[in-house]
Amino acid sequence: MAVERTLSILKPDATRRNLTGAINQRFEDSGLSIIAQRRLRLTLEQAQQFYAVHAERAFYGELCTYMTSGPIVAQVLEGENAVIRHREVMGATNPANADEGTIRKDFGESVEANSVHGSDSPENAAIEIAYFFSDTDIVG
Ligand code: CMP
Repeated sequence: MAVERTLSILKPDATRRNLTGAINQRFEDSGLSIIAQRRLRLTLEQAQQFYAVHAERAFYGELCTYMTSGPIVAQVLEGENAVIRHREVMGATNPANADEGTIRKDFGESVEANSVHGSDSPENAAIEIAYFFSDTDIVG
């Protein structure tokens, strides 16, 4: 197994309900280390750019508006197989389909307000990490 890094975002529904610590505990309990973290509020242009891969999807507009509706917490997580491990801890995109004990099952409100985002591959993780962090922000 390889040590990887992945980009994690705690979404506005998570910050609104003060779940940063509870969600971070799930990550750390699963063996992932938070090696960079920044709370910010996205502009609409930033959200559109970050989710550009979904630009053709019907939910793109609402997703981008939602991501600007409150603070987010962007993070870099590091650990063995971090991309897959993070996705396992998060659970399925739609909380209604997520396994028991996952973050989205326990905290997600809807497919849009599903509390967390995670990179889907090591290649996309590198792109998404660079969107929020410079090398000097990341202390592994
Ligand atoms: P995320 O991992 O942030 O990546 C894209 C997001 O689009 C996804 O999580 C969901 O929160 C959001 N989304 C909204 N509607 C849908 C949908 N119908 N199918 C998939 N993702 C959706």
